[in-house]
Amino acid sequence: MSAAAIDVRDVSMWYGAFQALSEVSLSVKQGGITALVGPSGCGKSTLLKCFNRMHERAGNTRITGRIEILGHDVLAASVSVHELRRHVGLVFQRPNPLPLSVLENVTLSASLFERWSKEELHARAKDALQRVELWDALKDRLGTNALSLSLEQQQRLCIARLLPLKPSVLLMDEPCSALDSRSTQAIEELLRSLRGEYTSLVVTHSMAQARRLADDCAFMLMGRLVEAGPTEQLFTSANDPRTRDYLAGRFG
Ligand SMILES: Nc1ncnc2c1ncn2[C@@H]1O[C@H](COP(=O)(O)OP(=O)(O)OP(=O)(O)O)[C@@H](O)[C@H]1O
Ligand SMILES: [Mg+2]
Repeated sequence: MSAAAIDVRDVSMWYGAFQALSEVSLSVKQGGITALVGPSGCGKSTLLKCFNRMHERAGNTRITGRIEILGHDVLAASVSVHELRRHVGLVFQRPNPLPLSVLENVTLSASLFERWSKEELHARAKDALQRVELWDALKDRLGTNALSLSLEQQQRLCIARLLPLKPSVLLMDEPCSALDSRSTQAIEELLRSLRGEYTSLVVTHSMAQARRLADDCAFMLMGRLVEAGPTEQLFTSANDPRTRDYLAGRFG
């Protein structure tokens, strides 16, 4: 049995008076890919944001319960949010590189956190760009503005820029929804290649993607975690009729 990288216990969360999450419990396996699915508005992005405390940016939020990432209590008052975000990286729906060079995008957060020499930074950036298979295409134009890259390259870059700091967890909120099917396939391959080394939690609206990509799958509905388990088991023999109906595309 592999250890849980993320352990969520009875988490409820409110935006003002609106309760967005209700008693969510979930265990995310270390080193695997877990898909988080459910209809629009069910709380997927909210749950993801709680893992690196991005939800606090909404202001006037309240959260109860416990979230542990690799044994660390994420919600503890003593936690440094900056330090937390270095370990728990978030990738968004639309690639959002900074309007800086390719190299600067990959070295920026490392240069804020670490006192690495220029050579060390460059070596880490090269590693990260190789990891996402951008190095060969971009090594001769690392000074290019990241915004001039294709969307797929931009999304690869957004994954690459998390890697120099060796995050424990990669959270991805519909990372392929702005991409065409060929680029989606390419990013899926990339995520598969990171399996084992990183724990990935991927929100997706595509049941086909969840099934192709994820070792485990978790289904949410109206702020609640209905059911989670090995992907094939969930798709072929879910316990809850709502899970069966959703995964079969009977409501969306
Ligand atoms: N900043 C906010 N302030 C108030 N309510 C919010 C805020 N962000 C999200 N909500 C509400 O919380 C609920 C969950 O939203 P969330 O974005 O987490 O859903 P989701 O499952 O990611 O949906 P989608 O699939 O459309 O991205 C929704 O009812 C949404 O309107
Ligand atoms: Mg969302």
